[in-house]
Amino acid sequence: MGNQCIGHLLLAQDHHSDLKRMPAIVVHTAGKSILFGEHAVVYGHPAIAVPIPDLKTTVTIFPLIREENETILYEAPDIGICENLSDLPKDNILVYAVALFKNALDIQKIPSFRLKIRSQIPLASGLGSSASVSVAVVRALSQFLGLKLPISKINEFAFELEKLHHGNPSGIDNTVVSYEKALYFIRGLEPEFLQSPVPMHLLLINSGIPSLTAQVVAAVRQNREKNPDMVNALFKETGDLVSIAKTAFLDGNIVELGNLMVTNHHLLQQLNVSLPELDVLVDIALKNGAYGAKLCGAGRGGNVIALVKEENVHSLRQILESHGIQEIVHTVIQ
Ligand code: PMV
Repeated sequence: MGNQCIGHLLLAQDHHSDLKRMPAIVVHTAGKSILFGEHAVVYGHPAIAVPIPDLKTTVTIFPLIREENETILYEAPDIGICENLSDLPKDNILVYAVALFKNALDIQKIPSFRLKIRSQIPLASGLGSSASVSVAVVRALSQFLGLKLPISKINEFAFELEKLHHGNPSGIDNTVVSYEKALYFIRGLEPEFLQSPVPMHLLLINSGIPSLTAQVVAAVRQNREKNPDMVNALFKETGDLVSIAKTAFLDGNIVELGNLMVTNHHLLQQLNVSLPELDVLVDIALKNGAYGAKLCGAGRGGNVIALVKEENVHSLRQILESHGIQEIVHTVIQ
C-alpha cells in the first residue's frame, strides 16, 4: 500500500461519525468451478458449472455522507491498491461499474463512498475470482444506490465487467456466481439450474501455476483458426459429453460423472490447454479414490477438480499435501 492509501484512509476516518450513523453495506459472493465444457462453451456448446461457496469475495461499501463533491475510494488490500477513483484507469472494475450505473440511471453524480474488496479466491487459478468480484461490486453498488435489481440484471452488469479483462467471455462464470446454483449453460440462453439427488464431494487442487484466462482463450482461438476441423470436432465431442453429464448429474450418477470428467480432461489435453503438472494431479487423484478429475477453467495452470468418495477426501488431501500441494479446497455440491 502506498502513502496515498494512508492519506485516503485518514480521509475516510474523518468521517468516522458518519460511519457510526450509516451502516456499511456488506456483500459476499462465491467462487466457481467448471465441471464440464470449458472453452467449447465460448463457441456456443453447453457447459456445467458449480458455485464454490467455501471461497468467498467480500465487498464492503462505507458511505461517506459528508463529502459534497463526489468522492469514491477504491481499496483492494489483497493486491495493494487504495486509490481515488479519479486516479484510476478507465478499465478499472469500479470505474467501469460506476459508469454503468450512472448510465443506467441517467445520473451524473452518485453519493460518496469507500469500497473495499477482499477475496479468498486465488487470482488466475480458474476459480472465478474476477467473476466473483464483478458480481459482488455490482450487488454492493445496487444496494448502496437503493436499487432492488433482479439477479438477471446483476448478472447482466457483471457480464459487462467481465468483458473488460476477458475479451470474449462466454458468460458462464458471472452467471454461476450471480445465481450461486449449479447450472447447465449455453451462451446467450437462460441457464438451467441443476440439482443432484446425492451430495458430491469435490476437491479443488491448486497447481500453483498462474494462468490468465484471456491468454488461454486467445490461444485456443488461434488454434481453431489454424485447425478448424480438428478443434470444432473436439468442441462438438465436448458438447455431446456435457449433455450426457447433465443427465448423470440430475440422476446423481457419480460413477458416470467421474468417467465423463476424465474424458473431458482428455479432450482438453487434445485442445492443448493442459500441462504435465495438471495431468500429474489428475493421475494422483484417480489413483487415490477419486471417481474422476480434470483441469477446470481455462487451463495451462490453475486448478484441477476431483470428484471424490466422501471417505477418501481426507486421505487424498494428505497424499496431495505430501506432493507439495498447498491449496486444496473441499466443497460439497447438491
Ligand atoms: O479460467 P476461468 O475460471 O475464467 O474459466 C474460463 C472458462 C472458459 O470457458 C475457458 C472461458 C469462458 O469465457 O467461458
